[in-house]
Amino acid sequence: MRYFTLALGMVAISAQAQDISVKSPDGDVALTFSDANELAEYKLQFKGQTLIDNSKLGFTFEHAKPMYRDFTVSEVSRDKHNASWEQPWGEQRIIDNHYNELAVKFTHMNDEQRTFVVRARVFNDGIGFRYEVEGEGKRNITRELTQFNLSDPDNATAYWIPGQGRERYEYLYRETPLQDVDLAHTPFTVTYENGTHLAIHEAALVDYAGMSLQRQEQGRMEARLAPRADGTLVHKDGRFTSPWRTVTVGEEAVDLINSYIALNLNEPNKLGSVDWVNPGKYIGIWWGMHIGKYSWGSGDKHGATTERVKEYMDFAAEYGFDGVLVEGWNQGWDGNWIENSQIFSFTESYPDFDLKAVTEYGEQKGVKLIGHHETSGGITNYEKQMEEGFRLYQEHGVEQIKTGYVAFGQNLKRRDDNGVMRYEFTDSQPVVNHFLKNVRTAADYKLAINTHESVKDTGLRRTYPNWISRESARGQEYNSGVGAPNPASHIPTLSFTRMLAGPMDFTPGIFNFDYTRPDVPDNDTADFVRRPKSTLTRQLAQYVVLYSPIQMAADLPENYLQHKKAFRFIQDVPTDWERTEALQGEVGDYVVIARQAKQYRNYSGDDWYLGAITNEEPRKVSVKLDFLTPGQRYEAQIYEDSAKTHWNDNPYAMNIETKTVTAKDNLTLNLAAAGGAAVRFKALDK
Ligand code: NOJ
Ligand code: CA
Repeated sequence: MRYFTLALGMVAISAQAQDISVKSPDGDVALTFSDANELAEYKLQFKGQTLIDNSKLGFTFEHAKPMYRDFTVSEVSRDKHNASWEQPWGEQRIIDNHYNELAVKFTHMNDEQRTFVVRARVFNDGIGFRYEVEGEGKRNITRELTQFNLSDPDNATAYWIPGQGRERYEYLYRETPLQDVDLAHTPFTVTYENGTHLAIHEAALVDYAGMSLQRQEQGRMEARLAPRADGTLVHKDGRFTSPWRTVTVGEEAVDLINSYIALNLNEPNKLGSVDWVNPGKYIGIWWGMHIGKYSWGSGDKHGATTERVKEYMDFAAEYGFDGVLVEGWNQGWDGNWIENSQIFSFTESYPDFDLKAVTEYGEQKGVKLIGHHETSGGITNYEKQMEEGFRLYQEHGVEQIKTGYVAFGQNLKRRDDNGVMRYEFTDSQPVVNHFLKNVRTAADYKLAINTHESVKDTGLRRTYPNWISRESARGQEYNSGVGAPNPASHIPTLSFTRMLAGPMDFTPGIFNFDYTRPDVPDNDTADFVRRPKSTLTRQLAQYVVLYSPIQMAADLPENYLQHKKAFRFIQDVPTDWERTEALQGEVGDYVVIARQAKQYRNYSGDDWYLGAITNEEPRKVSVKLDFLTPGQRYEAQIYEDSAKTHWNDNPYAMNIETKTVTAKDNLTLNLAAAGGAAVRFKALDK
């Protein structure tokens, strides 16, 4: 205690400043809090090297006194935890949760009531800390001061997309010196010349605003919460807790992928048994709209007709898909649907789509209809109809709904309590709350949700396992020909940035690269081609590299029949895993990931799968197979770019071969420019 009671009352004196540290279980990660200069601060070290130098903590509020200046440490408590838990579905079934905890209470020197706790958990692969703020009454946060004062900015490279931008999170990643970062979204990844890698993100974003990072001088990044329409950041009443601010650290790029900090910092499953949440693979009436063959709206080209859905269900049943996504089934798409947020109906079908007929047909075939709710960012319009929409789908046996929030920047429309229309960011507090309300309500109807144009993933799938996937990045849809396709470096960058947050419904598996949109002039040049910058093999590799418990085979069914041998891999690959090991890679260059299948349905838990993806550089990757079970023989079914494969003029060339391997072997895989490799390791009888 640092307080003296004098005749004049409670007065804080500036006793000697305190440094209070906590280390990871292995001792490599050290987090230190201090109240030097009567400011709440922290710093982070990794293997003796300072990664984050003294960085401020605290808040300012509207109608309440600030919490950052004239604060000293008044209490400290410690804890530790070492246990594992099981995911109902995931990239790894058993997750180890091993950390040392330190909670530091900061109290205002002259006002004992003004106090907040910073609770920190230090893992072997990084840290998380959050604020637990005491107090009563309404308080609007006007600033969260959290800083990440990154050391050695001259030798740091950042991988980032803009925060709070017009395209939400659907941007191409920038690779820049740390000093050139402006306002960045998270996960925000930084690499150093000496090999150190770190990623800043957040966990358990609940009833709060999403955090972007604003670069200040040198390497100092500062939290910038997405504002609400009224200009304040977060509205709170009484005591509150912030999301966890996380920093993952490692000595090589793949360490970032092999970390589960954000999941560990989320609360355990609140839904109980979730046996109604089913990982799986699906096709859909979808790509046809994106390449201009079909339309969402009514008319000659309407995609979602009863007849076409039945045909897709036939295909799904024949080739082992669990579901068929149908977009454009409901009233509201006509005209410019991005502007239709007020008129979308979530219960009324177009006349040529018969919900009952298609779901009954699907039931006979063992194929589920996957529902679709596009809102165009109309939060209030959707919330009014949400339960009815869920009820309707539930009545017809639907188990999963894809939602969409296509609206630019701060343009999600919400009527406030006074009926005033408010325009909000995707990661603003009201919209963050909407997404969770959507997922929680869906759980009441035993529905899983795959959110597109979603707020970033912060590991809430642990708490709400029916939040089965989301998009929140630039996916395959950008390769449809409207604008510039994703560059080859996109996936090897996503793997070390966006994918650190959680599953992504990227929608892999485009098998025909020779389409042109009827509405887009065909003026491509050698440097600008409107189709996936990809080889066929790379499309297969995406199923392993880009984790999602639901994976789409995104192309038109007929295009799979043109490449049946390659299609075999999509039929074989599971979407639920026992174990994951990111093996090799460099941010933006390439990535190699191996995953052991979980034992479920027809998938054998003895099999492993591997995916590798490169940027524009062709490369050979040599993979040690020591992740396989020792002594076990496997048939490696290898799908590889050939020596002649090139994404531009020879994308379909693929070598498919099998060989017998064990954990003692090495496999060298050939990746063409913008190419990839996919391998199934099928366990052989002993
Ligand atoms: C954007 C989604 O990402 C895309 O998959 C969907 O087709 C459209 N919205 C229409 O809902
Ligand atoms: Ca999208």
